[in-house]
Amino acid sequence: MIAFLRPLQSRYMKIPLALLPAVFLLAACNNNPAGNKEMNDSKYAGIPDRKWWKEAVVYQVYPRSFKDTDGNGIGDLKGIISKLDYIKSLGIDIIWLNPIYGSPNADNGYDISDYRSIMKEFGTMDDFDAMLKGMHERGLKLVMDLVVNHCSDEHEWFKQSRSSRSNPYRNYFHWWPSEKGKPPFRPGSFEVDGSGWRYDSLTNAYYLHYFSYKQPDLNWENPAVRKEIFDMMKMWFDKGVDGFRMDVIPFISKDTTFPVITQKDINEKYNGDWSQYLASGPYLHDHLQEMNKEVLSKYDVMTLAEGAGTTKATMMNFVDPDRHELNMAYHFDGVSLGYLPNEFKQMDPNGYKLTEFKKIYSDWDSVFAGKGWGTIYLGNHDQPRMLTRWGNDAPEYREASSKLLTTFLLSMRGTPYYYFGDEIGMNNIRFGKIEDYRDIESINMYKQIEKQGGDLQHFLNGQKISARDNGRTPFQWDASANAGFTTGTPWLKVNQNYTTVNVAAQEKDPNSILNYFRKMLKLRKEDPVLIYGKYTLLDKNNPDIYAYTRELNGKKMLVLLNFSKEKIDFALNGLKISGKALINNYTTEEVNNDAVNLQPYQSLIYETE
Ligand code: GLC
Repeated sequence: MIAFLRPLQSRYMKIPLALLPAVFLLAACNNNPAGNKEMNDSKYAGIPDRKWWKEAVVYQVYPRSFKDTDGNGIGDLKGIISKLDYIKSLGIDIIWLNPIYGSPNADNGYDISDYRSIMKEFGTMDDFDAMLKGMHERGLKLVMDLVVNHCSDEHEWFKQSRSSRSNPYRNYFHWWPSEKGKPPFRPGSFEVDGSGWRYDSLTNAYYLHYFSYKQPDLNWENPAVRKEIFDMMKMWFDKGVDGFRMDVIPFISKDTTFPVITQKDINEKYNGDWSQYLASGPYLHDHLQEMNKEVLSKYDVMTLAEGAGTTKATMMNFVDPDRHELNMAYHFDGVSLGYLPNEFKQMDPNGYKLTEFKKIYSDWDSVFAGKGWGTIYLGNHDQPRMLTRWGNDAPEYREASSKLLTTFLLSMRGTPYYYFGDEIGMNNIRFGKIEDYRDIESINMYKQIEKQGGDLQHFLNGQKISARDNGRTPFQWDASANAGFTTGTPWLKVNQNYTTVNVAAQEKDPNSILNYFRKMLKLRKEDPVLIYGKYTLLDKNNPDIYAYTRELNGKKMLVLLNFSKEKIDFALNGLKISGKALINNYTTEEVNNDAVNLQPYQSLIYETE
């Protein structure tokens, strides 16, 4: 998540002071079933509007933390290449890579200084070509991160733009000449003073940056900028890239008159949420339609929008296939649950309410009941680890609750986005001091609170649960030094539980979290009911159990998830279970005629009549 520091208001959440998690909107624009062998399976007969990206599971790799091969402590493309067989063995279809382009890394690659090159620390274009080839040879698709709301202040465009008011690149960015006085407030996530404008003495003007000052916003209202971006997208598609995850894409269009917007306006018109204002630029959908026409429609690719500022009411504007914009988007309602209001990403000490969790995911399912297609995720590089945030990482529950969350993610309608490391149950590292953090968001928020004389210890305690770096620690491959991630000094500390929580150990154990993930993924793939089937929530007021059915062509499955530490009965209320559980995260199951008795964090899927 990314927070707008000064107004103490997250871009992506209604919660003041909360960081923005990443939201994605993905758009796909083709019907080509190539690459999905199940597309022609008779079990899928009669399903309208099938697409490969609807039937796929996406595995997100944070390249910086995946596998280092040159000992500099930073993951690299050769590292990804060396682990492609592992990724393939999971059973996933698509890999989403966080940005790997040239970048000074103010925000770990989300500040791009060259869209057409590979970040030095990660390798070379030859490495990229070999990586893509290796993926395609294994039947894996590659989705890259497209970060075009902003670039880096070290991008040549910006260097030119700031050099003089008459430079041809001046209008590639948004400038406010200081003769006009101070520009009207816009939020700047990641800035200690919270402002989205920065004064540049070179031309005596301010430039706009919705994130850090190192990330100036591109001026999408300038057709030359759009052309540059579309050409760059084509370059990657011509190389064979299979899609883009589009970073904060709802923010690209701006009202360039920059009217005064007050907090009162935001409260009244945008539900108190600045990001909703930022996502309502005047030409947003024109730009996306143009992008579709000029680029996306010409390739067999998929698109996913980070749905920052989108709501249930606006989402369809991005993903309605008749509008020819994008394919999918991810919302922030789920990951925003459970934070205290008016504080920066502080969890409610009572945790989150399962009834609210169920309502959010059920309501979002209904958004796409008629058309469009949803997504489902519980973690990514902007979020803490799902096990800590949504499950229970205490030793006695970590295994069961990891598996339960995997069961949820892979049994919902919508394309699942699964974050690397969750398949082995990695959990939050819970840093105790600010010096351990590397993330600009945590560091600058700390400085802001320090400047305001706020409670720093309280902030640090909250970050143990919510900070983005919790989800960015190096991948735990084995029990050797640094979890087998690097022979050097890792850029971010490794979680010390790597000696027991690692891939090598879990490969050997048929009941491991890792092997459960593979099993669950196989179950989703085996039958379209878990992909396309109608979702119906059962027993919505049950505070501990999340239960639902999925139904398709006369076949019905019942999913039972006990989100609590207690043993609980779930009344079947006439539902008839046929046979043993199709999947079970325990070795035992207790069913009688009218109830299933669930162990703590037990997850079960049954076929029902
Ligand atoms: C998105 C990214 C996040 C990044 C921000 C600015 O939210 O997911 O990691 O910091 O945009 O680019």
